[in-house]
Amino acid sequence: MSLQVDAARLTHELQVLATFSAAPAPAVTRVVFTEPDRAARAYVRSLCTAAGLSLREDAVGNLFARWAGEDPSLPAVCTGSHIDAIPNAGMYDGTVGVLGALEAIRALQATGLRPRRSIELLMFTSEEPTRFGIGCLGSRLLSGLTDAGAASRLRDRDGATLDDARQAAGFTGTVADVALPPGQYTAFVELHIEQGPLLEQRGIGLGLVTAIAAPASLRVTIDGEGGHAGAVLMPARRDAFLAGAEIALAVEAAARSTDAIDTVATTGVCHVFPGAVNSVPSRCELEVDVRDIDEGRRDAVLARVETACVDVAARRRVSVTTQVVNADPPARCDAAVVDALTASCVDAGFACEPMISRAYHDALFMSRVAPTGMLFIPCRAGVSHRPDEYAAPEDIARGVHVLALALARLAS
Ligand code: GLV
Ligand code: MN
Ligand code: MN
Repeated sequence: MSLQVDAARLTHELQVLATFSAAPAPAVTRVVFTEPDRAARAYVRSLCTAAGLSLREDAVGNLFARWAGEDPSLPAVCTGSHIDAIPNAGMYDGTVGVLGALEAIRALQATGLRPRRSIELLMFTSEEPTRFGIGCLGSRLLSGLTDAGAASRLRDRDGATLDDARQAAGFTGTVADVALPPGQYTAFVELHIEQGPLLEQRGIGLGLVTAIAAPASLRVTIDGEGGHAGAVLMPARRDAFLAGAEIALAVEAAARSTDAIDTVATTGVCHVFPGAVNSVPSRCELEVDVRDIDEGRRDAVLARVETACVDVAARRRVSVTTQVVNADPPARCDAAVVDALTASCVDAGFACEPMISRAYHDALFMSRVAPTGMLFIPCRAGVSHRPDEYAAPEDIARGVHVLALALARLAS
């Protein structure tokens, strides 16, 4: 198959997509259902329509763009990723797997191929946990792991429910209908930047993911006693933030205690109430992220953090409540899909190597409902979730080329 990936077109589209942002360039902030997210969705829809794909959106805004195969009754081959971006992020996380998948479909269309199975681009809603505190919201619901009842209890920091937010964005369908019926897809493949340094360090252009690490997150709420920063004397204090600071250090210590390089933990959110320089913090809310490729070890870290919370609460005379927002199992990629990706690398003459994904992806949840694989491309210095995230056009084009070959193979 003589396949032409239009790297210049794809680079241009990634750059246009990056302009839909609540942060000044080069930073990208695109939180689900905010104005930049809605404008970015409209842009992606327009590109998919121009490529002749037929579009469908579900009740939470997952977008399905289908290139019909010769036999549309067969389970389709699915590919895709997300376009939402955490605060102060870069322009490649997720977007490469959406616009790259579209470019792969267009490159296949240009060869004159008519696939036997349909090929569907799936753009997932809210892979990032920024707004509702839980990652991979769209794919979780598609997989059926999270149900409509749990989704309806989600709220953002301003108290808006998921239902309020999705309906305001024009997604008014029934959340209970989002879960995919069994056997919908014969395979799912996600193209993504590595978000780590290994491919670049090893000089290898493509990584074939064999497993995805198990993510968990914890919300910790500390209630102490506020008061005047001048008048409340130190022995009388029940400072909620200082308790939170100790808990954040305990999170770090818990991750380090495993002595395993694969255990990581982060306290990435800390809200202090009332947030005035001359007021003792009365309340502190933390959001903690814990991951490991070993689920048991990850759970042991969560348990250590819970123990530390009890200890800090007693010593500092504050109340600490914890809520496990999610504690997901790791995923294994499907051998046949990995084989299809490997064969596609060989066909194209590109070197590749197997690897673990330490970041989570919608593929983690799609693996529950479809045989799943992931293709990684290098990103500069492994940097991600930062404005200086960068993937070279030739590396993106290589990933798109292999994705296209793999989609054709899986759809044949
Ligand atoms: C995905 O964005 C992750 O945090 O792994
Ligand atoms: Mn991300
Ligand atoms: Mn991502």
